[in-house]
Amino acid sequence: MIGRLNHIAIAVPDLAAATAKYRDQLGAQVGVPQPLPEHGVTVVFIDTGNTKIELLEILGENSPIAPFLEKNPSGGMHHVCFEVPDLAASVAQLRASGARVLGDGAPKIGAHGRPVVFLHPKDFDGTLIELEEVGE
Ligand code: CO
Repeated sequence: MIGRLNHIAIAVPDLAAATAKYRDQLGAQVGVPQPLPEHGVTVVFIDTGNTKIELLEILGENSPIAPFLEKNPSGGMHHVCFEVPDLAASVAQLRASGARVLGDGAPKIGAHGRPVVFLHPKDFDGTLIELEEVGE
């Protein structure tokens, strides 16, 4: 079902500081900060060639990453995102297998403008998994 690893998301307490570390210490090609108010985060994309890193910082009230940063004040890996060709089919198959899809299970438009869902981390060894529909 899952295809390529689309990105690894890392929640950070200070986006400017984290971006500078990737650019200056790790020598990565970093993007510009993109505020995504509908997702409660500001994102910096880092292209590593075979995948992307997304640095996430809290934006506004009720950010979905706020509880994570409360538990992990110095930041940490928040989720991994795999590409799937047919999100509705994946959701149906996962639910039939007993996996929990977060929220009402209906895809939302993610940070890349494509439909995404998230799977319950307790069903996947403590890892929050995002599935993103990517056309052929
Ligand atoms: Co993501």
